Amino acid sequence: MCSYCGCDSIEVIGRFMAEHVEIINANGELRAAVHAGEAEALEAARSVVAGLLWPHTVAEEVGLFQVMARDEVYASHIASLCAEHESLAVHLAAITPGDDAAMTLFENELRDHIDKEDNGLFPAAAIALGGPEWIEVHEITPHSHDGDTPHVHPAPSGHTHQDEPVAAGHPGGSAL
Ligand SMILES: [Fe+2]
Ligand SMILES: [Fe+2]
Repeated sequence: MCSYCGCDSIEVIGRFMAEHVEIINANGELRAAVHAGEAEALEAARSVVAGLLWPHTVAEEVGLFQVMARDEVYASHIASLCAEHESLAVHLAAITPGDDAAMTLFENELRDHIDKEDNGLFPAAAIALGGPEWIEVHEITPHSHDGDTPHVHPAPSGHTHQDEPVAAGHPGGSAL
């Protein structure tokens, strides 16, 4: 965890929001492949979207969501977000070449889901959770450092930075 720029308490929120941008960007390739009716490109793009989306939703559910759901104020909303993760999986899998309607269904659901998190749950979490709860969230959330993803934080002071380049031997690097 970054501990030198003052943003460590909301690091996981910044990470999730950055992952949302990556997922939406990858979705553009998927949409293009579907529209073109290209089966091979569709499968490649679908697997990129899935490779970004499912580790993300798992990280949300086992970390932040689990801690927030202990508060009954948020429990039912979080249950509905988890149900949307399941629905997104069904709708992503159902997309076939040339089926723009299926693509639109998935994309609209994805954007709506992300909006609920970026503009609803995450700001609420920033207010609702205290220091010990954020520490717990950090401890139980799977790390996203897979060896090649820059680690970018939201910057309260208006700056952004990246961690040191990830190289062989970096504790967050992956041998996979
Ligand atoms: Fe989510
Ligand atoms: Fe998310």
